[in-house]
Formats: sequence, C-alpha cells, structure tokens
Amino acid sequence: MQKLCFIGFGIVGQGLAEILVKKKEELKKKHDFDFQVVAVSDFIKGAAYNPKGLDLSRLLELAGDNKISEYPGARTGWDALTTIKECNADIVIEVTYTDIKTGQPAYDHFRAALESGKHLVTTNKGPTALFFHELNALAAKKGVKFLYEGTVVAGTPVLNLNSLCLAGNRVDEVRGILNGTTNFILTNMEGGKSYEEALREAQELGYAEADPTADVEGFDALAKVVILAQSLMGAKLGEEDVDRTGITGISLEDVKAAGREGKRWKLIGQVTRDGAGVRASVKPQKVDLTDPLAAVGGATNALTFVTDLLGEVTIVGPGAGKIETGFSLLIDILTINNI
Ligand SMILES: NC(=O)c1ccc[n+]([C@@H]2O[C@H](COP(=O)([O-])OP(=O)(O)OC[C@H]3O[C@@H](n4cnc5c(N)ncnc54)[C@H](OP(=O)(O)O)[C@@H]3O)[C@@H](O)[C@H]2O)c1
Repeated sequence: MQKLCFIGFGIVGQGLAEILVKKKEELKKKHDFDFQVVAVSDFIKGAAYNPKGLDLSRLLELAGDNKISEYPGARTGWDALTTIKECNADIVIEVTYTDIKTGQPAYDHFRAALESGKHLVTTNKGPTALFFHELNALAAKKGVKFLYEGTVVAGTPVLNLNSLCLAGNRVDEVRGILNGTTNFILTNMEGGKSYEEALREAQELGYAEADPTADVEGFDALAKVVILAQSLMGAKLGEEDVDRTGITGISLEDVKAAGREGKRWKLIGQVTRDGAGVRASVKPQKVDLTDPLAAVGGATNALTFVTDLLGEVTIVGPGAGKIETGFSLLIDILTINNI
C-alpha cells in the first residue's frame, strides 16, 4: 500500500486524482498497486491530512469549491512544508506551479520531501532543471526515488523510453518539438496566418498565456532541454549554457519561403554529444519534409533519439493536458511501487 501526498492540487494534481479514482481496481489487479491518499495541501483549495487516509472522490468535490480544509475529521490548514515533513506519506506528488528562474517554492518542497526520506514524483520543471544533480544526489543519499517523467513532454514517455526501452544504446543526440504552443503557432502560420494572428488564436484556445514570453522566446523548451541534457547524457550544464532563440523573429514570409524549399520551420530543442562534452540549443530550424518532426503539427510534441544501435527513433505525443500529464505521475508512482 503506497501512501500518497499531493502538494498542489490544480489541473495536473486533479488529473492524476481522477485517474486513480477511475482505475483503482484495474491498477490493483494488473499492477499490484494499492494506494491511500493521506494528505493534500494547496494554496487556495485548502489542506487536509489524515494518516489513515482520505477519500479521493470527496477531495475532488471539495477542491472544486476550494473547501478541502472542510474535510470532515481531518487535520486541516497545514501549509506545503508542514504537510511534507509531518505527514506519513511514502510518496510526495509535487505539482505546484513552476518558476523556471528560481525553482521556488517547489525547490523547498522537493528538498523537504527527499530530506524526510519520502519518494518524490513531479511534473515541475523549474527546480528539476535548475537543481538536477543536487536533487538526484540527495535522493540517492536518502535511499529514495526522485522521478520527473512529466517535466518533459508530459506523459509521452521520453525519459522512461531512454532508461528502459533504449537501455544499452548510446544516445548521441536528441532533438525535438518540446513546446506545443510554438508548434501550434508555426503550424497556423503555414495556413497563411501572421505571427500575431496565430498567437492570438493560441491564446483564445488556451494554449498560450496572456504573457506568452516563456513559450515564444523558448524559455519553456530551454528548461526541458536542460533536463534532457542532464538526465540522458549526464551533462552538468545550466540554462546559461544553452543557445536559445524563440520564434518571434519568424515571419509569414519566412514560413512561405521554407515551404517553397520543401521545408518547415520548427522550434527545435537539441542536445548533442560533442567529444567529451554536450552542446544544447533551442532555436527555430528549417526541417526537411522527410524528417518525422516535420509531420508533427499543432500542439503535439515529438522527440527523436539518435542512437548507436537502433539509429533514429522518434516518439510523438501530447506535451500537456490534465489527464496526459497526470498519467506521467502515475507511471512514476508505478515505477516506485515495482521497486
Ligand atoms: N498543465 C499541464 O498540461 C502541464 C504539463 C506539464 C507540466 N506541468 C507542470 O505541472 C505543474 C502543475 O501544473 P498545473 O497545470 O496543475 O498548474 P495549476 O493548475 O496552476 O496547479 C498548481 C496548484 O498548485 C497550487 N500551489 C501553488 N503554490 C503552492 C504552494 N506553495 N503550496 C501549495 N499549493 C500551491 C496552486 O494553488 P492556487 O491555485 O490555489 O494558488 C494550484 O492549485 C506545474 O509545475 C506545471 O508547469 C503542467
């Protein structure tokens, strides 16, 4: 029986909760996985703790009204750090918002979870990118797992693909479409829209934020590239080591000209082994129509692995979404359950 604690209970946290409610019996039968949610701590939705377990469907109902703190019979009002340190969970699920400049407050949550000997699963890329090696060393020292599949391309299994299915290969390069918003914009520009029109549509559909800087200037993809460089190639590089350019300089004329050459503009995140080192970049590249990445349109993500034994392997899938990202946490939790 795995005891779970949610830190943050927004879209992704509730996505995982819905999966757990729906698949409880199936997970038990097929994967010998049984769980109890003992704590939830969220800023506005509230906090509740019961060492003997909380009803997840009830928590989802209460979250909708920001009334988790009214959960009957539970200890309420604990903030994130108190919950992490004091609760009896085996696994902390950290799904608060991401800050890709400082990693906070999630970095403190991560450290507290690992320091207190609890496994940590997360989709939060800020602290994962910024403090990758330190957090992995802390997890190893404490004898617990730190898993973060959903920090890159949501539930589409890129990190597990590397560690399980491609084990034994040397990965010399990964390159891919790591940001759905920019890919949606570039795809729409191919349909004849200007950058401004395509961005506006992305905002109307909820793909892009009111302030789209993190996506269109490549910062979101940059954090993912740093995680890939560190986790797939063991590189010790920071965000400052990555050559980054966003898509704001790509005009409709550039898109049309690429089409005439049989190419497409894509914002490509790339990590390449370079002798003993590793080079990383995020920049718009004109990819040939024969490249599998060229066929990936809209908000979909994709990553090509260049390997020594298998050649090139491309995985295509969702890079965001409530259930799609919630699933990334489920696979990490099942991995821990199978240890
Ligand atoms: N959504 C996706 O498709 C997706 C995909 C990949 C990765 N991610 C990552 O997954 C994480 C969660 O994303 P999301 O979409 O679920 O975001 P969200 O809906 O904004 O949920 C985050 C939740 O964390 C709570 N929170 C923030 N700071 C907190 C703190 N210090 N203590 C307790 N709770 C706190 C927020 O509370 P209030 O709202 O009450 O302030 C909110 O309910 C983010 O790091 C995001 O980058 C998301």
